[in-house]
Amino acid sequence: MKEFKVGVVGATGMVGQRFVSLMENHPWFKLTVVAASPRSAGKTYEDAVGSRWAMSTPMPQQAKNLIVMDAAKVEEVAALVDFIFCAVDMKKDEIKALEEAYAKAECPVVSNNSANRFTEDVPMIVPEINDTHTDIIPAQRKRLGTKRGFIAVKSNCSLQSYVPALHPLMADYGVNKCLVCTYQAISGAGKTFETWPEMVDNCIPYIGGEEEKSEKEPLKLWGKIEGDKIVPAKAPAFTAQCLRVACSDGHMAAVFVSFDKKPTIEEIKEKWANFSGAAQALNLPSAPKQFLHYFEEDNRPQTKLDRNLENGMAVSIGRLREDTQYDYKFVCLSHNTLRGAAGGAVLLAELLAAKGYLD
Ligand SMILES: NC(=O)c1ccc[n+]([C@@H]2O[C@H](COP(=O)([O-])OP(=O)(O)OC[C@H]3O[C@@H](n4cnc5c(N)ncnc54)[C@H](OP(=O)(O)O)[C@@H]3O)[C@@H](O)[C@H]2O)c1
Repeated sequence: MKEFKVGVVGATGMVGQRFVSLMENHPWFKLTVVAASPRSAGKTYEDAVGSRWAMSTPMPQQAKNLIVMDAAKVEEVAALVDFIFCAVDMKKDEIKALEEAYAKAECPVVSNNSANRFTEDVPMIVPEINDTHTDIIPAQRKRLGTKRGFIAVKSNCSLQSYVPALHPLMADYGVNKCLVCTYQAISGAGKTFETWPEMVDNCIPYIGGEEEKSEKEPLKLWGKIEGDKIVPAKAPAFTAQCLRVACSDGHMAAVFVSFDKKPTIEEIKEKWANFSGAAQALNLPSAPKQFLHYFEEDNRPQTKLDRNLENGMAVSIGRLREDTQYDYKFVCLSHNTLRGAAGGAVLLAELLAAKGYLD
């Protein structure tokens, strides 16, 4: 694989810092540009981030002295890189315009933001689940009038545990309804306990927009390409409650599920154990070897113990048992800024590179 020059737009933020960390020693991707708001532009990356560095590993040496560029100077950034990762905290319509401007400057955009997730010709991809949605990219390029430029997005962090857990059960058993309660870490809001002290010893029963995303986005992931758009699936029916809990990283979900044809517990565990997708088949550098891990212990998975499984790219599942209202219930966990954000986007970029969309 050739080496790709990479820009991170929103590099000073929580997800941006993850991207910068993941680019250190990446076999295919070289961090070349960091960009953020005019507040940070012109400073070294080290000065711009300052005390906001929230990773448990030190800031990579190669990033420290990069001069932060103004993300709005699209042509200047695009001229220096092969593609960008985008994770910015701006208004939705501003993010949409920014991402489209990069794509139109012939710079592919791999985005963490929600702004384009429901643009009909923008693929939203979890590489193990719907890698074939990359087939929509030529139609998007046609609409944008580009040769190289396009936008691809990853889905919301809240669903990165339960959608992978349900996916291997869909074809044989037909998941028809699902209730999910999520217990989400504060890094999902771009915060630490230092910057959000109210969260110490606390639980807040509201995360703006999260429940709608948790219910709607799975249906796009399971959707089909029809002509020049992705048509979302009609089932299963989801209902979600999303809570913010006092954890630094890691989103847990408690899931209740019913099937058209009820499998046995052993059949479900076997599907989970044997599941893999395009990320594993293509041997992508960030792919977990075993995507879904089932724990037999009653008190696992635990956020603190298990979020970093397979470099934070695997999903942990446990406590599968019969339910009185639904067929089964279980819990599952994924790392929200790794598999759920920057790590998932890096895996998506690797998929796009392997399929030739970043050439
Ligand atoms: N945290 C998660 O787990 C998670 C998961 C999935 C998706 N996301 C999404 O990822 C995005 C970023 O989240 P985050 O948690 O990393 O936010 P964050 O920590 O608040 O960082 C925001 C970033 O956006 C930049 N920014 C703000 N205004 C800008 C402007 N006008 N022009 C250019 N850059 C601007 C900031 O630059 P300055 O430092 O210069 O202000 C900073 O780099 C959001 O859309 C979020 O919904 C986050």
